Amino acid sequence: MEETNAAKREQTPEAYFDGLFAEDPELVRVTESIRERGMPDISVAPGYGRLLTMLVAAARCQSVLEIGALAGYSGICLARGLANEGRLTSLELRPDYAELAAANIAAAGYGGQAEMIAGDALASLDLLASQGRRFDFFFIDADKENYPNYLERAIGLALPGAIIAADNTLLRGRTLNEAKQGPAVQAVRAFNSGLASDPRLIGTHLPAYDGLALFMVRG
Ligand code: SAH
Ligand code: DHB
Ligand code: MG
Repeated sequence: MEETNAAKREQTPEAYFDGLFAEDPELVRVTESIRERGMPDISVAPGYGRLLTMLVAAARCQSVLEIGALAGYSGICLARGLANEGRLTSLELRPDYAELAAANIAAAGYGGQAEMIAGDALASLDLLASQGRRFDFFFIDADKENYPNYLERAIGLALPGAIIAADNTLLRGRTLNEAKQGPAVQAVRAFNSGLASDPRLIGTHLPAYDGLALFMVRG
């Protein structure tokens, strides 16, 4: 069938691999809560959500910090990787999003392990630093203009060997488009090249979906 062949030609590698996994009711519920409220449907890609779970579990992370919670999709993925004594701290600018994310994370069974801090992430990061808090995993996924600032704050809050992951390093093609010179694009380009040349870090850039940076702070 022509239509079938066309559909096959158009299937991306991401869609192919995503199709191998069973539906995930907890994450479907989060996506439905986003739609019901007319919020932007910009949760992390499913394959990267699974990668976050795997990394947190493999590295036996105890203190995970997420920057940008939205409705709790990535928060649930991160919390799934934690052992019982592990903790997730999530930073979210909008109080209504923070409340929804906390509710969705609790509904998934991680309420007792999760802390949500509403407000501007830079201020929250400075507060956490002043309290002497340290983290072994960071997921950077808030406003793209601040990615370079979030990276510096993350390194300052990092335990030796901490992992830093960051979403949307391709900005849906804008990162590679020379004609695009807006503040978010320029910040993400600086962030991406800064990661690649930072002697404090070891890691790589994954180009699937919308791009994910994956780096480790040297021990
Ligand atoms: N990590 C989420 C998606 C985050 S979308 C997931 O994958 O499920 C980006 C989020 O960053 C939005 O919820 C937005 O409100 C939040 N945000 C934007 N600017 C911010 C800021 N200055 N401080 C904290 N959060 C911010
Ligand atoms: C967009 C996607 C994201 O994952 C995000 O964190 C912010 C914005 C977007 O596609 O616009
Ligand atoms: Mg994102």
